[in-house]
Amino acid sequence: MVTSEPLVRFQGVDKQYSGGIQALSGVSFTMEAGDFAFLVGPSGSGKSTVLKLLLRDEQPTSGHVYLAGASLSRLQRGAVPAFRRRMGVVFQDFKLLPRRTVAENVAFALHVHGTHRRGVVRDRVMAVLRLVGLSGKEGRLPDTLSGGEQQRVSIARALVTGPELLLADEPTGNLDPDTALGIMEVFVRINEYGMTVLVATHNRELVDMCRKRVLQLAQGRLVRDESLGSYDRRPATLPDHGPLSLPSPQPVAAIALEGQPV
Ligand SMILES: Nc1ncnc2c1ncn2[C@@H]1O[C@H](COP(=O)(O)OP(=O)(O)OP(=O)(O)O)[C@@H](O)[C@H]1O
Ligand SMILES: [Mg+2]
Repeated sequence: MVTSEPLVRFQGVDKQYSGGIQALSGVSFTMEAGDFAFLVGPSGSGKSTVLKLLLRDEQPTSGHVYLAGASLSRLQRGAVPAFRRRMGVVFQDFKLLPRRTVAENVAFALHVHGTHRRGVVRDRVMAVLRLVGLSGKEGRLPDTLSGGEQQRVSIARALVTGPELLLADEPTGNLDPDTALGIMEVFVRINEYGMTVLVATHNRELVDMCRKRVLQLAQGRLVRDESLGSYDRRPATLPDHGPLSLPSPQPVAAIALEGQPV
């Protein structure tokens, strides 16, 4: 019998850090493959903790986290690296290798993944750089790029191995509003290609513009799960710009996202 499990399932998850801080209490939600969700809430509400539990950087105190039906608490220690490769992660502070070019930074993720064949590496790197709008910048060093371009490199690096799930923790936290909008458009476009995306953010304006599912945390509790949501339950005014309009997808980009064996 084929059962279709959600890609992500949190089931009654509590997380207490040492020192007694209750970071999450009874958090339950699911994400189907292909979903896009924002994780919002004030500082300290538990957003990063949700992502860390998914990455198995942390374990729940009680409750369960599942990826495609597999319980993360049952993973043997030795299975953790292979499990982590099923996810791509983007952070606020890019974390690029300063002395490596854009293409080398992205290729490095493939090497770590065990992919070394030159032609495969080159094709995949070029495809994801095109997807994030960085064609022509392959040979640049990170410090010659703008903050937004550096974040695009880190998104390309997260995608190049063909993960099942893309996680981002405050990916626009270091960027000005226009640049942040460009980055959020990249996440939306990637989701249009079928990637499941979970973005933790404080960026109220962008959440309101995107009109995507919103999971809202308050003091470690999931207090809202709304499709086509806004940052707050009732925004005082909706932004003028309406939903994001994105350029039509470039078919070549799908090459890197179809999870071909690498
Ligand atoms: N390693 C840790 N040890 C102890 N307490 C922690 C640890 N990590 C997080 N916490 C605490 O758990 C709570 C939730 O933190 P978390 O980082 O998940 O919040 P957040 O919503 O991501 O906040 P921010 O928006 O500031 O990034 C906070 O009270 C925080 O101080
Ligand atoms: Mg955080």
